[in-house]
Amino acid sequence: MTTGPDASGIGHSKARTRRDVTAGGGPPINGDHFAGDAEGTIMRAFLRAGGLSKEEVRRRPIIGICSSFSELNPCNMGLRDVADAVKRGVTAAGGTAVVFPTISLNENMLKPTSMLLRNLMSMDVEEMIRCSPIDGVVLLAGCDKTVPAQLMGAASAGKPAIMLTAGPRSCGYFQGRSIVTTDIWTLAPDRFAGRIDDQEWDELEGTFAPTVGTCNVMGTATTMSIAAEVVGMALPGSAAVPAVDSRRRDLGERTGARAVELAREGIRPDDVMTPAAFDNAIRVLSATGGSTNEFIHLTAIAGRLGISLGLDRFEDIGKQTPQVLGVRPSGDFALEDFDHAGGVPALLAVLEPLLNRDVVLADGRTVADVAAAVRNAKPKPNPCLRSLDDPFLDKSGLVVLRGSLAPRGAIFKRSAAPRKFWTHRGPAVVFDYHNAHERAKDPNLKASPDSVIVLRNAGIVGAPGMPEIDFVPIPAVLLNAGITELVCVTDGRMSGTEGGPTALHVTPEAAVGGPIGLVRDGDEIVLDAITGKIDLRVDEEELARRAAEAPPRDSAPARGYERLHFQHVLQADQGCDLDFLVDYDWQQQSLDSRHTAEELRQ
Ligand code: FES
Repeated sequence: MTTGPDASGIGHSKARTRRDVTAGGGPPINGDHFAGDAEGTIMRAFLRAGGLSKEEVRRRPIIGICSSFSELNPCNMGLRDVADAVKRGVTAAGGTAVVFPTISLNENMLKPTSMLLRNLMSMDVEEMIRCSPIDGVVLLAGCDKTVPAQLMGAASAGKPAIMLTAGPRSCGYFQGRSIVTTDIWTLAPDRFAGRIDDQEWDELEGTFAPTVGTCNVMGTATTMSIAAEVVGMALPGSAAVPAVDSRRRDLGERTGARAVELAREGIRPDDVMTPAAFDNAIRVLSATGGSTNEFIHLTAIAGRLGISLGLDRFEDIGKQTPQVLGVRPSGDFALEDFDHAGGVPALLAVLEPLLNRDVVLADGRTVADVAAAVRNAKPKPNPCLRSLDDPFLDKSGLVVLRGSLAPRGAIFKRSAAPRKFWTHRGPAVVFDYHNAHERAKDPNLKASPDSVIVLRNAGIVGAPGMPEIDFVPIPAVLLNAGITELVCVTDGRMSGTEGGPTALHVTPEAAVGGPIGLVRDGDEIVLDAITGKIDLRVDEEELARRAAEAPPRDSAPARGYERLHFQHVLQADQGCDLDFLVDYDWQQQSLDSRHTAEELRQ
């Protein structure tokens, strides 16, 4: 059980356990919200005032539909229709459905970043589930942070839960070809160079995101939707179905019906999301070349259940897992191809020899059952999904780096980086997150094609909120010479839709005293994404001298949620959750990581 520091004076000496939320430990149906006293009567009366009938408020169980629909979040706007389908499913299975809203976070609309608010959303979800008169919940999410936030909240709330994600938006069409989310970045240089005129650029705006739904590549939203399936929280085959596809209504009905079964059986998130299920999710992440953000989110979800994943688990599994899916940006294929190939069930069938086959998925079948069903259906091969014998990459597309520059780890997405950058040595060019683009324009900046961009103060505390870095700032002196790609090392995150030779999530970050804050222009940096090393070649004495000269760290913001975040947020290797929300000894885990760092330096 967690015991956090008292820096803020906020009492959190002992977090509530997940099982504390319902009395008796059995299925929560017929809980005290239906008692015959005045309180129960008031509750029923209010539900009836909201439109439910006498029979509906007395029917068991009541299933909450936790919707992150918002007109400020087009990725999730299809969820209003989906909620109707879920309601039908709940009703058909003998339950009563009630929709309730939560915070909704859109990746592209919130400043400074949606990541700053993920934990806040998770707290909203947890408390609404915990405190409301519901016996189970259907989680409706889609955009990047909404999926982990809902899973974290539901894990902590401890009531039966199942998720249905929003599904990807349809592809656009521009200049005679199909376009996806990532194409905005590949077209931007043409726009700035004048090769795309105003009229064409307007046309792109109209076609770039033609429907509701999540980003239609192997970005964070897709990666997390797949993870929700694999850990057993979303129905098999749901992640890749497009947002506007009629199959999503069927999935809604089936999800609603399954929610009633879960509530009746008293099956809770900690019964479902077991260590073996998380191992499968990590395996699938590796096999898909999915978003590096899953390292953070999966760790945070597991942390709510008392499971400390740690980067070592990602590394060990990744080393033994070939990348078999080739969806952009970790391949040339479209996300729609993955759906046509059979989606997650087809992927599980390919990976079955490497998976924990007994893990139970959201429809009650095991991984082995689902894989067998796929094989029996004899699907036509699809080039986006290869076999274990003929993968796109023979090891994980994602690798964990450690060394003197990142004592507690960093992540490198090999599948999205040219192979020539997998091993690299070069002099640092240091940018601060807040002035990177200004400094990159400096005509006197010393930089060479082998330079390593060090982009710091972009972490969960420093930025704050670890905003996604859209693209690495290349010094103008190099851009003018035609150099468009450099190795980058950062304590920030990058969108799952982005590629490039970048070591991300360097931990500890600069803002909490990590060595990345001590790097100076010209220092030699050595990166090896084959052996998993990242080192700053500066001796300890010099680093100690620089640390002594470093200016004092920023103090906490004066008020509001940002103050809570600043004082309690954990580092990237611990999922960036708030320390009083996790359910394991995060302080001990930090100590373990420091031991690892010391060993690495020797
Ligand atoms: Fe919402 Fe990409 S911006 S999924």
